Amino acid sequence: MIKVLFVCLGNICRSPLAEAVFNHKIKLLGLKEKFMSDSCGTSDYHIGELPDERTLVCARRHEIQIHHRARQLNRVDIREFDYLIAMDFSNKKNIQNLMNCFNMEHNQIFLMRKFQPNPDHIEVPDPYYGGDDGFENVYHILDNSVDHFLEHLKVEHNIYV
Ligand code: 4NP
Repeated sequence: MIKVLFVCLGNICRSPLAEAVFNHKIKLLGLKEKFMSDSCGTSDYHIGELPDERTLVCARRHEIQIHHRARQLNRVDIREFDYLIAMDFSNKKNIQNLMNCFNMEHNQIFLMRKFQPNPDHIEVPDPYYGGDDGFENVYHILDNSVDHFLEHLKVEHNIYV
């Protein structure tokens, strides 16, 4: 089973939505047996909380199931997950800082938008301090970038669907 961890700062906006979009797509593709996914934040700000209300509304609007409680990235995640997918540069740096603390290595840490062929920006913007349109924008970025990430995974792991 291929294990994918989506990582943002608070784990209440971007990464739980990324995980939900990913799960939705692998279910549609009939690939549920091949993948396991989760999400977490690099901060401890919202541990135990449900996703932000605006994330839940956005998921509902797009008929995406979302079930998550915020948790913080830890060293076991670095060992256990095959892919660490950061929403922005700061999240990626935070993952690397944690790895440095524990002298760990990981060779599959990517930005979420890395697999999009021509992204207008390379980061998934943090919608926390903005309005609902920021969440809608994040959803469309995730919808497209998860498609391209899945294409990458299919090629890497010889999955033909
Ligand atoms: P996320 O958004 O990293 O996409 O979950 C944020 C959530 C909370 C905060 C910042 C970003 N915060 O500062 O509490």
